[in-house]
Amino acid sequence: MSGILFLKTKELGPLREFYVEKVGCEVWLEQADCTIFRHGNFLFGFCQRDTVETDAMLTFFYNGTEEVDRMFDALRDTAVSEPKHNDKYSIYQCFVRDPDGRMVELQYFDDPVIRYLAGDDLLLTRRSVREFLPDEIPREVLTRVLDLSRFAPTSMNRQGYYFRIIRDRQMLGWLSETRSSSTSPIANTPMAVAICADPEVTKRAVQDGCIAAYHFILAAWFYGLGTCWIAAMDRDDIKQRLGIPQDHYIATITPLGYPSQRQIETPPRKPLEEYVKGL
Ligand SMILES: Cc1cc2nc3c(=O)[nH]c(=O)nc-3n(C[C@H](O)[C@H](O)[C@H](O)COP(=O)(O)O)c2cc1C
Repeated sequence: MSGILFLKTKELGPLREFYVEKVGCEVWLEQADCTIFRHGNFLFGFCQRDTVETDAMLTFFYNGTEEVDRMFDALRDTAVSEPKHNDKYSIYQCFVRDPDGRMVELQYFDDPVIRYLAGDDLLLTRRSVREFLPDEIPREVLTRVLDLSRFAPTSMNRQGYYFRIIRDRQMLGWLSETRSSSTSPIANTPMAVAICADPEVTKRAVQDGCIAAYHFILAAWFYGLGTCWIAAMDRDDIKQRLGIPQDHYIATITPLGYPSQRQIETPPRKPLEEYVKGL
């Protein structure tokens, strides 16, 4: 579900140039006398009319203060105020004007807000998170993540996977030491989640478990929560201590918490051609 904010303008051309070329928006839809732009999941449009609406302020938010600075540099010729922290709202912001004179705010939120990521942002920005804030995850947020995770595909729709929540500090400490640095991300997290599949329910416990785990990872990221796929957790001693039946499959045990760092550099990826055969 989404929505569109429409504003009146007299001239679409300069706005199109400003929002596409300078702000980096996409044209989402061209209609008879309206143009609708997309910035992440923010849709806003201008319609050509006899009057111009300039009272509204459009706010674009970014993943870090550096991105706000970079955008400000690109839009400096229309600047109203330089980037600075605003403690009242825990934000970092600056203002520029669009060609109609409308105020445009460029902003970074310091608060770990419940994010509303567009699909491409969700896939692009997800990172493996290994350092976490001590903040507890509100039950409502955790429930939403788990609820979204019910919609993973499964072989013959058998839905043989489940999530085992781990909050016990001693258990988290022990798990974090099972494979030295590989499992260390579990050490300082408010909780971890074992994503398991039951072979009595599905013949494809490995595939169903792994897909469910990735579904969970994306759902968590959507709500601003970091995870990290920890491999090789399908072990007898781990199952025994967690009370998971020995024949069940553990796809991963991921730490789960708010990332201590909001911006994590993307590990390099190979170019598209190296991923694709026969395009
Ligand atoms: C099957 C699999 C096993 C992984 N095992 C571990 C692990 O044991 N410990 C760890 O810290 N990260 C682990 N990772 C995370 C990868 O290191 C990470 O996905 C990769 O470096 C790319 O970074 P990104 O997830 O931020 O894009 C694993 C990822 C996958 C898919």
